[in-house]
Amino acid sequence: PARPRVFSGIQPTADSFHLGNYLGALRHWVALQDSHDAYYCVVDLHAITAGHDPSVLKRRSRLAAAQLFALGLDPERSTLFVQSQVPEHSQLAWVLGCITGFGEAGRMTQFKDKSQKQGSERASVGLFTYPILQAADILLYQANAVPVGEDQRQHLELSRDLAQRFNSLFGRTFTVPSPHIVKDTAKITDLQDPAAKMSKSSSSPAGIIDLLEEPARSAKKIRSAVTDTGREIVFDAEGKPGISNLLTIYSALSGRSIDDLVAAYDGKGYGDLKKDLAEVVREFVTPIQERTNAYLNDPAQLDKLLARGAEKARSVAAGTLRDAYERVGF
Ligand code: ADP
Ligand code: NA
Repeated sequence: PARPRVFSGIQPTADSFHLGNYLGALRHWVALQDSHDAYYCVVDLHAITAGHDPSVLKRRSRLAAAQLFALGLDPERSTLFVQSQVPEHSQLAWVLGCITGFGEAGRMTQFKDKSQKQGSERASVGLFTYPILQAADILLYQANAVPVGEDQRQHLELSRDLAQRFNSLFGRTFTVPSPHIVKDTAKITDLQDPAAKMSKSSSSPAGIIDLLEEPARSAKKIRSAVTDTGREIVFDAEGKPGISNLLTIYSALSGRSIDDLVAAYDGKGYGDLKKDLAEVVREFVTPIQERTNAYLNDPAQLDKLLARGAEKARSVAAGTLRDAYERVGF
């Protein structure tokens, strides 16, 4: 039997992915290649919904792709492409927008949060319709599974509703996607603010570890990470969020269990843990940085891989769009 298909996307809104992106999402992308027919997209159309700088967008898309290949996405097994190279995404989004209720779209909490931050007069219509484009991304590939974190659950629910609605209005066209819930997904917090998630929009760069930054810089951030009073190294996400976050990162990058780490650091101090974690991070990022640079230093090869990805994605997307257009009456 054919392998189930998975779709996921990530925005090229920073030069580097951070450890939160890797541990919460991208490492699962790599793992899913073994069990799924994987379609992964650098969603540059989404990246212009909240204001952007045209002079860096293309570079960031290429950096994102280079990092994804460097992390282990295998172009022979996965289809990785840049969204703007497959025009069917925008075309299907229009059709889906026409069967989405204005009130329904207005209930998306991520828009409410983001538009509040920007000021509601300044927030774009693109930011408002973002979840509809996201539905088009998923439905074009007839994805069975979509890896989602808590923050994307409501958007996937909309994708499911739109697939079902289209199918019942116009005839069966789309696979209704299911959330792919990853067990032991690591939510990484800000090193300077253990109550907040590590995020590129974090208030302090000292709070996030970028995959592409100098390991010495990461070591410095880990050294000055906010920890808790007390000196015992135990895992207690509520009572000791700072140390627990460091243990989570350590465990995820080294493959050692939290229990094993807690036992190994019995009687040692926070400084020992931080020093060793900095070393684990260095060992992890160094080969990724080397491979990323190798892709960036061979732009023709990177472009070729992305062109092949887009061509393969397009062959699927164009077939789905053709069916959808026909059903709609075009
Ligand atoms: P950011 O918060 O830096 O803007 P995005 O919202 O672009 O990151 O998230 C991209 C992916 O990375 C999503 O799947 C998201 O769930 C995951 N992710 C982001 N930050 C973290 C984190 N701190 N811990 C775990 N996963 C995260
Ligand atoms: Na975000």
